[in-house]
Amino acid sequence: MPPTLAVRDEQHPLTTQEATAVLTLAEEVTRRDGSPPLSEQFRLSTASRDVDGVDHVLALDEAGGVVGYAQWRVGPDGEPPSAELVVAPDVRRRGIGRSLAAALPGDVRLWSHGSGANASAAASFAAALGLVPVRSLHVMGRSLRDGPAWPPASLDPRYAVRSFEPGRDEDAWLALNAAAFAHHPEQGSLRRADLDQRMAEPWWDPAGLILVVEAADPDVLAASHWTKVDPPGGEVGEVYVVAVAPDRQGQGLGRAVTVLGLDHLRSLGLDRVVLYVDEDNVAAVRTYAALGFEDVEVHRQFARSSPAVG
Ligand SMILES: CC(C)(COP(=O)(O)OP(=O)(O)OC[C@H]1O[C@@H](n2cnc3c(N)ncnc32)[C@H](O)[C@@H]1OP(=O)(O)O)[C@@H](O)C(=O)NCCC(=O)NCCS
Repeated sequence: MPPTLAVRDEQHPLTTQEATAVLTLAEEVTRRDGSPPLSEQFRLSTASRDVDGVDHVLALDEAGGVVGYAQWRVGPDGEPPSAELVVAPDVRRRGIGRSLAAALPGDVRLWSHGSGANASAAASFAAALGLVPVRSLHVMGRSLRDGPAWPPASLDPRYAVRSFEPGRDEDAWLALNAAAFAHHPEQGSLRRADLDQRMAEPWWDPAGLILVVEAADPDVLAASHWTKVDPPGGEVGEVYVVAVAPDRQGQGLGRAVTVLGLDHLRSLGLDRVVLYVDEDNVAAVRTYAALGFEDVEVHRQFARSSPAVG
């Protein structure tokens, strides 16, 4: 029996039960596959259920249970839409993934976040749909206990360091992030509601969002390093977002603020640190490699080689 597909959009948002079923499916797949099929942004959009510009496709079995799920979102500033797609492990190779993919826009870019065997299953699946890899996101990591030492942070005395203060820094941080990531499809489009959602997550810790500010005017942000420990109390920290104001780039602030974040994560007694970086971002990849980070895995985006017209 082919699955029944149900589309949920702004007019017909996911119900609370459906959102819970999708997140439960994602957790089950994470346990079974060993890697999460949905990224943070897609999980958050499922949990909040009716985000603008986000559509959900549910694959339902005969009893109405969610056995597969796809979510796609319109791309910012003319970028193509992006999607994530997952099928329950017990019902794979029955065409459910193919049916879900057929419900997505023709020019969609489909993420694969798996590693090892899951990554090759996703690559075979994408190839079967006629999709080719178009973008790679590298996961890099290093030990916080051993490995090459990173140099101490060196900052010009015109700068000072402090942590993010809720109620004071939201607008300035969003402006810094938007400017620093003006050419980045996901990160640059972060809005106040997205920031608020992250600040409501269990892992949110303002002490982990480190700001480099003008010493003479500490409300002026020059650079920031948002570190994250998810799950809280876990052993792995993340270089979540490093941003340097465009007019201050090229002065060593990126390296200095990265090091400040590494010092912070090490001070928490964590074992490892990981980060995600676009393969094309050569400057960032070099900075991280020089700080002792090595490739751990690669996440890929797949698309039609010549996007469908119309
Ligand atoms: C990738 C995934 C979505 C495939 O779902 P599915 O329902 O099993 O896919 P389908 O049954 O529609 O498979 C369609 C075709 O893709 C290919 N394919 C799918 N899984 C494959 C695998 N493990 N190995 C080799 N080829 C595979 C086959 O050509 C298959 O056709 P066939 O079964 O007639 O040979 C599923 O394995 C999954 O949820 N993985 C984790 C999440 C993920 O990686 N998502 C990103 C997808 S780019």
